[in-house]
Amino acid sequence: MASATESHASRVTLRVNGTDHVLPLDHRVTLLDALREHLGLTGAKKGCDHGQCGACTVLVDGRRMNSCLLLAVAQDGAHVTTVEGLAAVAATAGTVGALHPLQQAFIDRDAFQCGFCTPGQLCSAVAAIEEAASGHPSHVTPDDVLAEPGRGVTLTAGEIRERLSGNICRCGAYPRIVEAVLDVIE
Ligand code: FES
Ligand code: FES
Repeated sequence: MASATESHASRVTLRVNGTDHVLPLDHRVTLLDALREHLGLTGAKKGCDHGQCGACTVLVDGRRMNSCLLLAVAQDGAHVTTVEGLAAVAATAGTVGALHPLQQAFIDRDAFQCGFCTPGQLCSAVAAIEEAASGHPSHVTPDDVLAEPGRGVTLTAGEIRERLSGNICRCGAYPRIVEAVLDVIE
């Protein structure tokens, strides 16, 4: 007869930043805690643990997600990219360097103060740029763009503010964050 512990745990396979990990995880463990507590990847931050601040944002199969809201067991087989893996993403896209261009732009623009929100801002911005290029509209996307499905959306400062509105910065570094994203898309 299975013990209570065994019945509430499963082996979960996660490909994180290109490396497969098989973890025996309690079914109640979130993806954020799996990354931080089981894999030692502390880049993604636990701000609110309620899906309200965006500090825990990572890429799951290329889409940005609040990892505090995802149960790790439900992500079995997923490809996860954390801020620690962004440089590798840039390398596969042909940009060779120690940092992803967005990371460098954040440094160049001084787009952070305490840095707590920065990993989430970076992951969110990487996905937001790709979403816009793929034609995903936001709340502020003009009607003429909406009339042409599939057309890429130009990321203005207003579009960037809207698309990153789920990432809260308690230090108020928003103006510099928008400038950094604009630097990269330009
Ligand atoms: Fe996940 Fe705040 S810690 S949204
Ligand atoms: Fe401090 Fe954003 S830089 S919360």
